[in-house]
This record gives sequence, C-alpha cells and structure tokens, in this order.
Amino acid sequence: MAATNVPRVKLGSEGLEVSKQGLGCMGMSAFYGPPKPAPDMIKLIHHAVHSGVTFLDTSDVYGPYTNEILIGKALKEGIREKVQIATKFGITTKDGKMDIRGDPSYVRAACEASLKRLDVDCIDLYYAHRIDTRVPIEVTMGELKKLVEEGKIKYVGLSEASASTIRRAHAVHPLTAVQNEWSLWSRDLEQEIVPTCRELGIGIVPYSPLGRGFFSLGASLMENLAEGDFRKNFPRLQAENLENNKLIFEWVTEMAKRKDCSTSQLALAWVHHRGDDVCPIPGTTKIDNFNQNIGALSVKLTPEEMTELESYASTDVVKGDRHAFIASTWLNSETPPLSSWKAE
Ligand SMILES: NC(=O)c1ccc[n+]([C@@H]2O[C@H](COP(=O)([O-])OP(=O)(O)OC[C@H]3O[C@@H](n4cnc5c(N)ncnc54)[C@H](OP(=O)(O)O)[C@@H]3O)[C@@H](O)[C@H]2O)c1
Repeated sequence: MAATNVPRVKLGSEGLEVSKQGLGCMGMSAFYGPPKPAPDMIKLIHHAVHSGVTFLDTSDVYGPYTNEILIGKALKEGIREKVQIATKFGITTKDGKMDIRGDPSYVRAACEASLKRLDVDCIDLYYAHRIDTRVPIEVTMGELKKLVEEGKIKYVGLSEASASTIRRAHAVHPLTAVQNEWSLWSRDLEQEIVPTCRELGIGIVPYSPLGRGFFSLGASLMENLAEGDFRKNFPRLQAENLENNKLIFEWVTEMAKRKDCSTSQLALAWVHHRGDDVCPIPGTTKIDNFNQNIGALSVKLTPEEMTELESYASTDVVKGDRHAFIASTWLNSETPPLSSWKAE
C-alpha cells in the first residue's frame, strides 16, 4: 500500500469534502483505446480508495454509460460510504452529431439514468459537462436545485463554463466545483475562471492535469496509442507540433531529476501548488502509475521553482490547441437571458 498520506480538502461552501487528489476514471472505459478489463479496473478503484483517494470522476458520456456502470460495480463491495462520486451530464448526440443538452427534462432524465447505472441513491457531485447555449443557465440550474432538494444529488458543478455563466449559475444555487482543463500547458482558465471561482468560493477541479499523459511519457506517448485513441487527433500531439512540444517534456524531466521525483509527479505537484481549493483528478488505468501519482502530494515546490516550471510551458512555447473537438467552450458558453425562456 502506498505510504503517502492523502489530505482531505473542502470544495465550495456547501460542505463537500474530498481527497486532495481524485481519480479520473474516463480512460478505464473510453477515449483512450479499448475499454480495460473490468476486474482490473475495480481492483484499481478499490486500491485508490484504500489509499485515501476517494474522489472518483466519471460521466455518462464515458463509454457512453459503461464507465458509470463500472463504478457502480466497484461500489458494490462496501465502499459506497467512503467515496465521493462525481458524474456529469449534457454531452449527447443527435443525428450522428454532438448535441449539448441542459433543458430541464433532459437534466432530470440524465440524472435518473446515472443513478441507476451507478446503482446509488444519490450522486455526490453532479456537473453540467458542457453548457447548452440554447438554454438560460438559470433554467438548467433550477432543475439541478430541485434535484438537490429531492436528495438525488448533493452538490452541483459546471465544466467548461464561462466566468459569467458561473456567476449566473451560482446566483441560482451555490456551485461546489468548476471542472476545467488545467495543467502546465493548459492555463487559459487562470485569466477569468480561477479568479471568479475564488471570489465566489467555488472549488476548482483540474481535468487532464498530466496533459492527457504527455507529462508522463512525452513524445513517446504517441508511439503506443491503440486504434481509436482520441489523442491521435489532439493538435498538440500531432507530429508538426510534437516536434516542438517534446522539448517542454524534456525540460520538465530535467527539473524532475533535480527534484528527485518523476516528471508526472512534478507536473501534478505544480497543479497542487496552485491552491488548497484545487483538486486535480489525474486519470490512470494502472496501480503502479496511481501509486506514483499520489507521490506528487509529497513534492514541495518553492515560488521560484513554480516560475521555472511555468517558463518551460508558456503560451508562446506550446504549439497547438488543447482540444481536437468540443472547443474551449468556456470562452463561448454564454447562454440566453432567462426572460427569453418559454417553459417546456
Ligand atoms: N470535464 C471534461 O471535459 C473532462 C475532459 C477530459 C477528462 N476529464 C476527466 O479528467 C480525468 C483525467 O484526465 P485525462 O485522463 O484526460 O488526462 P491526464 O490525467 O492528464 O492523463 C491521463 C493519461 O496519463 C497516463 N498516466 C497517468 N499517470 C501516469 C504515470 N504515472 N506514468 C505514465 N503514464 C501515466 C494515463 O495512462 P495509464 O492509464 O497507462 O496510466 C493516461 O493515458 C479523466 O479521467 C476524466 O475523468 C474531464
């Protein structure tokens, strides 16, 4: 068992307490090659929980659905009370194209379906995965508030929302967390999202804190990707950008050697050092990698070391967008005014 003591932190002002580092479960079932064997993933989830990492991140779109079912199975063996389950709704398809939904009947149906798949009475943290720009955020939040009142969800979050959407949503019902990509090479949320969350007392959950594995393996990540791995399409990982970006990994690795830790640990430690209200959810499908990643909590960085790390991955150094599809919606997630909404 890993010896690292995993601290607990409070996210938001409504009472959610989680481990300072979570476990991203997406890659166990989706997007990063074929689904991994369920017994191995259940073993990994149990290992994480027994190691003190109790904040599990999933979504109905991972699979779709199979990742929630996997987590539901893992919870069967007496760990429900020990974990905080975060899941998400809103990314779906229509006529073969991606469709984002935040209308009340969809929100309710998605929640009921997630409860069934997870086989739990209540979801701890329920996020809108993306913002439906056809629906005033007040309307989406109104339904989420009802779900809280009915005891179906405990806490509410948004993923990839703009600062003004966060503000409007928070006025309807206090948000517990905002989930966005945040890592050494994805720092655009620092301009508006982070200050807004801090002003309003909302926790921040960085997704892809290892740059989708780039800060673990560098350019070699691309050598062994399975058929269908979405990262094959990620702009920053395309040959023309990777030639440049691989230097970032090399510089961070050099520094990790000096710090006597792994590159993954240093990259994760940087995210942890962004604040006590920051709870990254690195994804892994391997117990060894999980053990290494919780070691990041023991890596201490001085302000000078933070600055040094940041200089290796500044915006003028990084080549390529962070997303291949589902663009940076936090920049354009403005929803119509409440007055424009005609009730369903
Ligand atoms: N809200 C959103 O829109 C959104 C978007 C993306 C992701 N997410 C959530 O955030 C979670 C994490 O993001 P992510 O999985 O995209 O990216 P990530 O955490 O940055 O990186 C995960 C990748 O890094 C590898 N890895 C992890 N630790 C490693 C280590 N110590 N050594 C070598 N390789 C290592 C994993 O491979 P192995 O499996 O081989 O360890 C996996 O391929 C997801 O699971 C999901 O729950 C949310």
